[in-house]
Order: sequence, then structure tokens, then C-alpha cells
Amino acid sequence: VGGVKIAREDVVKEDDPTNNVPDTIYSKIGIQLHRRDNHPLGILKNTIYDYFDKSFPGQFVKFDDLCPLVSTKQNFDDVLVPADHVSRSYNDTYYVDSQTVLRCHTSAHQAELLREGHTHFLVIGDVYRRDSIDSTHYPVFHQMEGFRVFSPDDWSGSGMDGTAYAATDLKKTLEGLATHLFGAVEMRWVDTYFPFTNPSFELEIYFQGDWLEVLGSGVTEQEILKSNGRTDHVAWAFGLGLERLAMVLFDIPDIRLFWSNDQRFTSQFSKGKLGAKFKPENNLCEVVRGIAGDLVEEVKLIDNFTNKKGMTSHCYRIAYRSMERSLTDEEINDMQWNVREEVKSKLRVELR
Ligand code: PHE
Repeated sequence: VGGVKIAREDVVKEDDPTNNVPDTIYSKIGIQLHRRDNHPLGILKNTIYDYFDKSFPGQFVKFDDLCPLVSTKQNFDDVLVPADHVSRSYNDTYYVDSQTVLRCHTSAHQAELLREGHTHFLVIGDVYRRDSIDSTHYPVFHQMEGFRVFSPDDWSGSGMDGTAYAATDLKKTLEGLATHLFGAVEMRWVDTYFPFTNPSFELEIYFQGDWLEVLGSGVTEQEILKSNGRTDHVAWAFGLGLERLAMVLFDIPDIRLFWSNDQRFTSQFSKGKLGAKFKPENNLCEVVRGIAGDLVEEVKLIDNFTNKKGMTSHCYRIAYRSMERSLTDEEINDMQWNVREEVKSKLRVELR
């Protein structure tokens, strides 16, 4: 990690009863799939970087090489994980010894980076959880953490208190990120709980007929800011799982494939190219079908244009036809107006 090799004896300790790290896990440390530009995780990481660089030029500092061995204080106490929380158990987390773990989330780095004075940062890294293995779970995966601090000057003129201001900015920023990754999709915010944020929210997007959880986020607990040199400030934080998103964006059916060295897998991905298997058309079709049902015969993209500012226009032709009878202009116009209304509100596009 960072050019430093972590020795087996520093991680696997067969005669220490507080150690539960097997060789299979040790063998993954330092591989850093997220730092390979032609790997789907690296491509996704860079695509998220692009969004932050474009939206906040020069502001977010990126860390993708922090050591995954952290203290229990960093992983749990610093982010207010309660003493009796399940994630602390030997069943859930890989312990190197009673004070040291393989980080189970990138939130483990929040406190140290705050103390170093950072106010805008992204942390990307491998995280480790003792978990059952199936097509979507693997004991090593990758997360990105985002963190942004505000000072009273930022919100004083807004008419909001600091928490409301941060929550509003958080949602706007992450909705922008989701649009950057997925195109025009329907999104919703779901209230949830994390020990380190309050309020806490999950962002979900509607994808192929299901709500997909994209990330966890929230307004950082005051205590974390206070303990790390940022009294009177507020902050937001988010954490997202890279595999979960990459599986959807690149159409990767099994999480184990990320670790494959098979050329037939690795050669499919190249720097800067997001999978693009995801077609915004599918969402449009869902909306149209939701309104017109079987009266819609075809939805066809007939023009596609991106202007200098990066705005993309799509022109679609929708054909309505009934199998039983002639449709009147009036009923088609009604459906068409409903489609326009719903496309505008659900897919957040500008109509022309
Ligand atoms: N650390 C959380 C997790 O691993 C994600 C998260 C990060 C949630 C930051 C809120 C804020 O599930």
C-alpha cells in the first residue's frame, strides 16, 4: 500500500486468539483494484472524480492510498459507533489484534483528515467485512467517502440553520452525482440511521423496475467536528459502494468477477469509458408505458445531440396505436401531455 508492502506476519497471527484474518483476506491487501485505470472500479472512481472536479474545481482533495489497517478507535470510536454495535463483533469485522482492524468502511478516515485540516475530501479504498459470499457480497469491496465542511459564513445569509443548509447542499450534490453516473433517472431519498450522521439519508434510483440503493449519507454529528478541531462548523458526508454501482453500470453479473485476471473480462473495460449498458431510453419507455399501456407501439430515438456546454438533447418519436380501434386525436393528445408532465418530473429533464 502506497509502495509499502504489508507483511503477512503483521496481519495473519495464527497464535493470537484476537486475530481472525485468514490468508485469503491477506492476499487481497495492497491489490488496490480502484487504482487501475482500466478496471471497472478505477473507471467508476475516475468518473466520480470528474463530477467533483467539474462541480467544485480544485476543492476536493482525493485519497485513494490510505492504509486499510486502522485502529478500532479510527474505525469505530472516532465515528461514534456505540460500544455494543454489531459491526464491532469478531463475527463481522477482521481483527488483526484487539486494537487493530481491517477498516470496514472508509468513514474510518474522517476524523484524521479533519484533524489534518481538510474541509473537502474524497477517500477511496478497499474495505473488509466478514460476510457470506454470494453474487453481490464479497468480504473485500471498495467504498468512496465524501466529506464537506461548512463554516458559519457559508450558511449565514441563506435563511437556513447550518444543518438544513448542509442537508440541502448534500442532496443537491449527490443528485447531481447520480445524474452524472446514470443519466436521467428517477430518484428518492429515504430516511435512515448511521451513528455518525444526523439526519441520515439513503439515495435510491429507479433502475430496471427496482429501487436501487446508491449510497448512505447525512449531516455529520456535531461531536465529530468538535473533537477534531471544527467547533461551530457543520459538514455532510456520504459513503458509496463502488462494486454495487459498477455491477449496474457495466452490467457485471457477479461480484467475484472484479477480482478476475481473465482477459475475457479485463479486456472489456478501458479508461474513461463507463459501461453505457445503461440506457436512459429504458426509463422513458417505463414512463410512457405507465401512462399509455399497450396503446404505445414504439418509442424511438430519432435524434441525439450534445451541445458545447455538455447538454444532451434526445428527440423521440412515440407511436400510439390501438389493436382494436381508431384512437382519437383528443385521447392521444391527453396521453402525450401526461407523458410530458411525468417525464419532466420523474426524469428531471428539460422539455423542448
Ligand atoms: N460508512 C457508511 C457505511 O459503510 C456509509 C456512510 C458514510 C454513511 C458517510 C453516512 C455518511 O455503510
